[in-house]
Amino acid sequence: MEFNIKSGSPEKQRSACVVVGVFESRKLSLPAELIDNAAEGYLAELLRRGDMEGKAGNTLLLHKVPGIEADRVLLVGLGKEKEFREKEYRAAIATAVRTLNETGGFDGTLTLTELPVKKRDFAWRIRQAVIVIQETLYRFDQLKSKKDEVRRPLRKLTLCVERRNELAAAEQALQEGQAIAGGMNLMKNLANLPGNICTPTYLADQARELAREHELSVDILGRTEMEQLGMHSLLAVARGSHQPPQFIVLKYLGGTADDKPIVLVGKGVTFDTGGISLKPAPDMDEMKYDMSGAASVLATVKAAAQLKLPLNVIAVVPTVENMPGGAATRPGDIVTSLSGQTIEILNTDAEGRLILCDALTYVERFDPACVVDVATLTGACVIALGHVVSGLLANDDGLARELLDAGNASWDRAWQMPLLEDYQELLQSNFADMGNIGGRAAGTITAACFLSRFTKKYDWAHLDIAGTANKSGKDKGSTGRPVPLLMHFLLARAEKSALAGRH
Ligand code: BES
Ligand code: ZN
Ligand code: ZN
Repeated sequence: MEFNIKSGSPEKQRSACVVVGVFESRKLSLPAELIDNAAEGYLAELLRRGDMEGKAGNTLLLHKVPGIEADRVLLVGLGKEKEFREKEYRAAIATAVRTLNETGGFDGTLTLTELPVKKRDFAWRIRQAVIVIQETLYRFDQLKSKKDEVRRPLRKLTLCVERRNELAAAEQALQEGQAIAGGMNLMKNLANLPGNICTPTYLADQARELAREHELSVDILGRTEMEQLGMHSLLAVARGSHQPPQFIVLKYLGGTADDKPIVLVGKGVTFDTGGISLKPAPDMDEMKYDMSGAASVLATVKAAAQLKLPLNVIAVVPTVENMPGGAATRPGDIVTSLSGQTIEILNTDAEGRLILCDALTYVERFDPACVVDVATLTGACVIALGHVVSGLLANDDGLARELLDAGNASWDRAWQMPLLEDYQELLQSNFADMGNIGGRAAGTITAACFLSRFTKKYDWAHLDIAGTANKSGKDKGSTGRPVPLLMHFLLARAEKSALAGRH
């Protein structure tokens, strides 16, 4: 999709369709009023006659509106003006784009980006518009033998801002929105692939490809190197599979040589059967999404590189397939992690933490500014928080605050849970330094407690995205989350380092 930014005069826009909003009880938005004035009350008359009420989701397509340059005018219902907030804004953009795409015409002009949304500026509205548009148009049909053909696909969209002096900042917001949306697309494409295609080797190849395209450095460790290092916790998970494990390190170095890197660690279980602690059959197909954390951190590094952020960012992806094979790890097996701490693997389905702990020890060598791991780690997180917010736990409150703020700024929200010492005792083992599970209570917290034992040397936060990374049911698919949150976190860090005057 090609995007443009323009300011003012919707009535003079030459395009196949100009989109304007109408609030409930037939109140025209400002751009709709401008159109109405040029058309000498044509819209007001239609509304008076009851052709459109302005309810959220309503649309009305008009042809040859007098006095208007565009071929068509699309009215989009916005609901009650007083209740028009982030969610309603996003829904209106989605409705507009869906309708435009079905209408025919290669291009469109959206004035919805001028609508005021409480506490949000035009830059937010532009970024969100781009993200929602790409989300609405996203299709994953590469594995269907017949694609759904769209007769005349939309190719170009113009996003309007109210004032000329907003143009430069809106262009910047557009770039950011496109990078974030592009990252989300990459994440979705990787995560939606089935486990028989998206294997650890496939992910490693994708990382190599990203490195080639964006001039990043990439380093991939195979089984032998991991054995030599002593990553026996990670390797224990890979034992039951014919797919060899991979350990991916993808570096974007946009900062100075002495800027400490921000390290993003992503759980890359390309399929999670549970291993010998086998999962039940219903919905097990969704365990192809167990590499969503990996996909999100690779996608974030790509987006950061695209925006040339003045930061050093390293994505680290431990990736394995969790299968029950003849050589698979048994419940009760004890392994020594890279850190030297021993682990009694009481449940082979709690495998995410087993691969992450070795990655979290490995990253000490980068002397990180901070480490954020991203993982579809616990079913308990879905029970606690549902599909709305990601779970956040951290050993540093400042870092937690930054991530929560980034989640709010990007509308990809997270919620903090307590990482208290009191929960640690649940991981007690009679035979090793710790067990890999803590019982049914507080499952998300005990998983984070386990990880916290490997993150003593740096500021660390953990995002549990089990409930937010993908949708189930008829809308089954990857959501692209938490790429927006991670990108806003990086954008805020980049701004901070620019303010410090070092770039
Ligand atoms: N990948 C799962 C977590 C998960 C569950 C993600 C549902 C998305 C939806 C993880 O590896 C797992 O199986 N965790 C276990 C941990 C338990 C054995 C302590 C779980 O949540 O049941
Ligand atoms: Zn599992
Ligand atoms: Zn898992």
